[in-house]
Amino acid sequence: MNNESLENLSTESRLYPPSADFVAQANAKAEMYEAATSDRLKFWEQQAERLSWHKKWNQILDWSNAPFAKWFSGGELNVAYNCVDRHVESGHGEQVAIYFEGEPGDTRTITYSQLKDEVSKAANALIELGIKKGDRVAIYLPMIPEATIAMLACARIGAIHSVVFGGFSAEALRSRIEDASAKLVITADGGFRKGNAFALKPAVDEAVQKSPSVENVLVVKRCGNEVAFGEKDIWWHDLVDKQSTEHSPEFFESETPLFILYTSGTTGKPKGILHTSGGYLTQAAFTHFNVFDLKPDKDIYWCTADVGWVTGHSYVVYGPLANRASQLIYEGTPDTPHKARWWELVEKYKVSILYTAPTAIRTFMKWGDDLPAQHDLSSLRLLGSVGEPINPEAWIWYREVIGSSKTPIVDTWWQTETGSIMISPLPGVTETKPGSAMRPLPGISAAVVNDKGEVLGNGKGGYLTLREPWPSMLRGIWGDDERYKETYWSQYPGIYFAGDGAKLDDDGAIWVLGRVDDVMNVSGHRISTTEVESALVSNPMVAEAAVVGASDEMTGQAIVAFVILRQGATEGPDTVQELRNHVAKEIGAIAKPKKILIVAEVPKTRSGKIMRRLLRDVAENRTLGDVTTLADPTVMNLISQGMTTGSED
Ligand code: WT7
Repeated sequence: MNNESLENLSTESRLYPPSADFVAQANAKAEMYEAATSDRLKFWEQQAERLSWHKKWNQILDWSNAPFAKWFSGGELNVAYNCVDRHVESGHGEQVAIYFEGEPGDTRTITYSQLKDEVSKAANALIELGIKKGDRVAIYLPMIPEATIAMLACARIGAIHSVVFGGFSAEALRSRIEDASAKLVITADGGFRKGNAFALKPAVDEAVQKSPSVENVLVVKRCGNEVAFGEKDIWWHDLVDKQSTEHSPEFFESETPLFILYTSGTTGKPKGILHTSGGYLTQAAFTHFNVFDLKPDKDIYWCTADVGWVTGHSYVVYGPLANRASQLIYEGTPDTPHKARWWELVEKYKVSILYTAPTAIRTFMKWGDDLPAQHDLSSLRLLGSVGEPINPEAWIWYREVIGSSKTPIVDTWWQTETGSIMISPLPGVTETKPGSAMRPLPGISAAVVNDKGEVLGNGKGGYLTLREPWPSMLRGIWGDDERYKETYWSQYPGIYFAGDGAKLDDDGAIWVLGRVDDVMNVSGHRISTTEVESALVSNPMVAEAAVVGASDEMTGQAIVAFVILRQGATEGPDTVQELRNHVAKEIGAIAKPKKILIVAEVPKTRSGKIMRRLLRDVAENRTLGDVTTLADPTVMNLISQGMTTGSED
């Protein structure tokens, strides 16, 4: 973050108050802030009451074993019952839960009553496969309704799902299966993307071969592409279709684990973030209702995230369904078969709430205003953004071109670890500034602190922390309590350190500046520099690698790798391409470096630590910063020269 951009931020003077019409009908009222401040726990208790509990809790928050929280302990509920059955029981069985649009244009409409049948059948199928409460189920699916159904089926029987993004490689899937000792993998033959069927099953086969914990693989037929079938494999339609639509949900204690979701940290090994039931669903539902102003009888809601990310968990599956939303799920990419596909979908389904990522918004900006202009977007009444800081220009474009200069925009800050939105405007309350997530939501206490952990006032920049436990907070890292304490709670004892830099402007609005650790943010996805370095070094040609995230106009950050080859390995015309593919194979296509430079040396301090700051300077074509602490200051000249001839595609 350079000084100039900080200056720019602090002089942002454009203000967007909500319109009187919006205020008059908004779910969230300004009084919520006061209510939450005067009695935070009572406030969260009231939010928990929006769910249906089989048994009421004994205690709102038990923080006696900090940093391991228990929310609503003693309470009992079934998460799937809350997301499905209760809406049918309250007379909304005929309401559409999911409008599905496949990339090739095939559609499905699933009502709440049909969803209840499908989830019940899938739950019965899991039981037939011997899946029990507490067992781990890996889900590796494209964005099709079965992803939601599979997650809810797990929740219904108390099994813990671990969704792995379909873009991750066989190796990434394998390591996640192994870490959680998953007993079952739910996958598909493939999915549609960019006009083609991409196969998923081969990656599962490769992963399962090396995963002794996996007893079965349940395969949804999506594309009809040829797949190899082994002893452990069962077609979804063979097993699930024949099951009974009757399944009585069991009720589980509030702290029953709901899911594990892996996310990158500063080391090479992804962390299995653990979330539990009652507190998670409470805050997912609360935020979805208030931040998106959901009107279940009127809105068509569309969150474009994949279920492989936390946004898909909280704002495609759990939040919207707990609130009885009607939502759109779209399988494919925004440019297939043409670059106006999203706007065509907004018009076709009369989408009223759209939640997406800045990287997508910037891409649409580049594609031009005439594409959205070809479609009727007047149904849109609220727009959301998540994943990385949204540039003020992109914010304004989003509002003017997509939101007809009238929709509120909610820029929502949160993390896999926080489970739900933490910092965001409330759409009928907050006067927003383009590019700022504004204020912590009611019930959330966030502060910006300096190195010593001292809370900073307005006009100051530092590190973003969360001061009090919140209901949807992570309960730990799967199998690694020490790493949980060390990663989040040791920097400032007793306080959660988010890993982000942030600034408070003169009015106290929060401007999140991005990660301060060795974690990159590429298109809103977290990838650790160490993970990519390890992937590169696992190639026999590579002796050493240093990876940095360089700012990129489209993707926020782009991965740039500096690679030293082993003695004896020589650079050929395909070496860079080979190495890029190698990373894709090890981690997934999202981690493919945009640029790889073969260098003779990387800059290191005398103690041997890679100086990423200098490499970032080079990758971003800046004049070099201070090189005096380098073990060998001449190294940088060689690297800078290489950069101008470095390969990219
Ligand atoms: C990191 C969390 C939360 C779902 C998507 C990403 C960055 C997220 C914002 C925002 C600025 C943001 C942060 C955070 N981030 N939302 N509105 N403004 N930065 O989840 O993969 O767990 O990544 O994404 O750096 O720490 P995630």
